[in-house]
Amino acid sequence: MKTAVITGAGGAMGSYLVEALEKQGVTCILVERERDLLGRLTHMLDGNRHFFYKADFTNQKDIQNVISDITSKHKKIDYLFNVAGIGIYKKLEDLTLSEWRASMDINLNSVFMFSKGLLPLFKKSEDAMVLSFGSGMGIYPSKNRVAYCTSKFALRGMSLTLSKEFKGRGVDFVLLTLGSVMTDFGTGGLIYRKKLEQNGKKYLNVDEVIDKVMQITNSPSRSDEYPLYPEGYGNESKS
Ligand SMILES: NC(=O)c1ccc[n+]([C@@H]2O[C@H](COP(=O)([O-])OP(=O)(O)OC[C@H]3O[C@@H](n4cnc5c(N)ncnc54)[C@H](OP(=O)(O)O)[C@@H]3O)[C@@H](O)[C@H]2O)c1
Repeated sequence: MKTAVITGAGGAMGSYLVEALEKQGVTCILVERERDLLGRLTHMLDGNRHFFYKADFTNQKDIQNVISDITSKHKKIDYLFNVAGIGIYKKLEDLTLSEWRASMDINLNSVFMFSKGLLPLFKKSEDAMVLSFGSGMGIYPSKNRVAYCTSKFALRGMSLTLSKEFKGRGVDFVLLTLGSVMTDFGTGGLIYRKKLEQNGKKYLNVDEVIDKVMQITNSPSRSDEYPLYPEGYGNESKS
């Protein structure tokens, strides 16, 4: 029986991922800011099979509490999916220090804390994997998005480095590097994205992303990075 920790469990991609894992019989440990934000997943928490933790990743103590409770209740963790993220798309003049810090806390520091904190439990698994949701904006510099780009560049550096560090040691660190996906993510959200789509911009849909995640999860051998981009992605960064 496999056990997975999913951060951002109630979000657009997180919630579909949880459903796909549950379908496959994986025990899911859902981490979200509020139980109410789990939306249609709350039914999963009726029995004893799945677990829920409330944590705001801008608060270090919240993350520490989650890690120590998981450690006290579970003997091993097979998968950690770092899905939580925020996209504050602002130019430097408008960006506040607290927005910058929140971007680093949620997109980067939480991944470090969960990866390090749950390491003893990964080592008990025969097939441990830490899969983080990276972004093409962690490869292509994109103007007016300095907080988001910086956090995702650093996340990429962390994941690729740890992939090397743990090669042959039973924990696969994997980065899923995504282009734009049709969700409510980031400044502007879904309405803005729908408008851009009408003007020809291409988006991945959530299903194809989650199919890819499940393919990677079930693969007997994994790469350190999987880019998944819609057609034409990255052209904006050339301007
Ligand atoms: N959509 C895209 O175009 C795209 C492209 C490339 C990469 N990604 C990455 O994919 C991941 C998921 O994005 P998505 O599209 O599914 O967006 P989403 O629906 O907004 O999901 C983001 C998740 O992060 C959680 N989160 C935000 N702030 C938090 C905090 N302070 N503490 C704990 N959790 C917090 C959200 O919780 P709440 O429900 O409380 O807000 C939500 O569950 C992100 O890491 C994003 O960077 C997305």
